[in-house]
Amino acid sequence: MTTSYDHFNLIFRGGTVYDGTGDEPFNADIGITGDRISALGDLSTATANDEIDASGMAVSPGFIDVHSHDDFHVLSSPDVEHNTLQGVTTLVVGNCGFGAAPYESAAGRLGELFKLPPGVTPWDGYAGYLATIDQVKPSLNVAALIGHNTLRLDAMGDSQEVPPSIDQVTHMAGWVAEGMDAGAVGFSTGLVYEPGRFSTTDEIAAVATVSGGYRGVYASHIRNEGEGLLKAVQEAIIVGEMSGCSVQISHHKASGSDNWGAIERTLEIIEAARERGLHVSVDQYPYTSGSTRLAAVLQNGAFSDGSGGFGLVKAEDVLIATAPGYPSHEGRSLESFIKEWDLPPEDAAQKILDEAGDDVYVVLFMMDEGDVRRVMAHPTTMIGTDGIPVGSKPHPRAWGTYPRILGHYVRDESVITLPDAIHKMSGMPADKFQLAGRGFVKEGAFADLVMFDPSTVIDTATYEDPKTPPVGMPHVIVNGVPVVRDGVHTHARAGRALRLGLE
Ligand code: ZN
Ligand code: CU
Repeated sequence: MTTSYDHFNLIFRGGTVYDGTGDEPFNADIGITGDRISALGDLSTATANDEIDASGMAVSPGFIDVHSHDDFHVLSSPDVEHNTLQGVTTLVVGNCGFGAAPYESAAGRLGELFKLPPGVTPWDGYAGYLATIDQVKPSLNVAALIGHNTLRLDAMGDSQEVPPSIDQVTHMAGWVAEGMDAGAVGFSTGLVYEPGRFSTTDEIAAVATVSGGYRGVYASHIRNEGEGLLKAVQEAIIVGEMSGCSVQISHHKASGSDNWGAIERTLEIIEAARERGLHVSVDQYPYTSGSTRLAAVLQNGAFSDGSGGFGLVKAEDVLIATAPGYPSHEGRSLESFIKEWDLPPEDAAQKILDEAGDDVYVVLFMMDEGDVRRVMAHPTTMIGTDGIPVGSKPHPRAWGTYPRILGHYVRDESVITLPDAIHKMSGMPADKFQLAGRGFVKEGAFADLVMFDPSTVIDTATYEDPKTPPVGMPHVIVNGVPVVRDGVHTHARAGRALRLGLE
């Protein structure tokens, strides 16, 4: 390929390009003009204001983190270091039913994670939220899902344990219309959390139908990832079929050792739905542990009968990640509190919540490595971090998800190929969430790019020391601007709000 351009803002020279389609890589220089890739090919005679030597390196589309909870974090910590340093150039926020609007119901809902910094004016709906993103300009791009839990709080106030009235359903649907009009990319639920867990399939489908009218996504933290996993996957598919939404099953897993292996069945159910014409896909973070609110684990009876959304969880498999006001709790296992206080697991967990408040997060070891690999290798799986970057011992997925897949699962374990992994991180999510101009390396696309060394890239974040950046991933470009250079954040604020289907 030749080009008529002979001068660029920035050229990546001599890299191996993985273009996001899943196809085999090719050797090409990449020329960037403004916020776009303006040429791809042999640019050896072209000049540039800035050059990056990419020889021996992989260059790919920047990663699209399809499962983020950084709705407020992108405003309070706009460098978003845990994501940008691991190659993420776009976040899809608003997952698990927790959205950014309406503001009053959203703010403080996830504790420190959903708090606004001084100087940022609260918004009303999604038009206001997306405008705030464009004002604050974080270092990466942000697309938003509308959260059902947030809408339900707004519509129903304190009386959540009953079905909504027609007026209350209409109220929720009105917010979805506002959000989709403003450019949100879909609607999400979190059906193990309050108040979402009080809702019926009919209620969810009725509200999701508005998103379906825009061909939006229905993303769900499904009602049960333990012994009720199959039924819960089927419920998500039914909501898709009733609402016209494409379906995204969040952080797909089988939780609790009694349920390990059930992934084989869920993937068959998903394949059957796809054969019927429904677009169903899933996302995953590459660890055998998860992380969530301790209050939700308790509400789902995870330490007693295991029939709730998390399956049966043993106290020794629970680590305190974040305990506001009690930093010395962080990193300790629930088992250690049980011994210290001589209390049964539920009482010990409740005592921690009574002392530190509702915003205690835990890490839970509850998955099977074989299941993790089965999900990863499935062609419908894309990658998301589900990062919760608060407290001193958050789950390492917030810093390590992408390099862990590229280094551990691709290079060391050969679970998936490199072109496939890149596709799951870029092109596949861009298509799913209708992020126009994103997710692929091609002429005319936005210049969201990451350069890494396939032979050395790896995560370094651990449970003991979870806030550490990867190695082997020196450069990250957002909208043509380097936000990470030689492994160091440049503090460039090059991101923008992305609106459904619009460039
Ligand atoms: Zn979730
Ligand atoms: Cu989540």
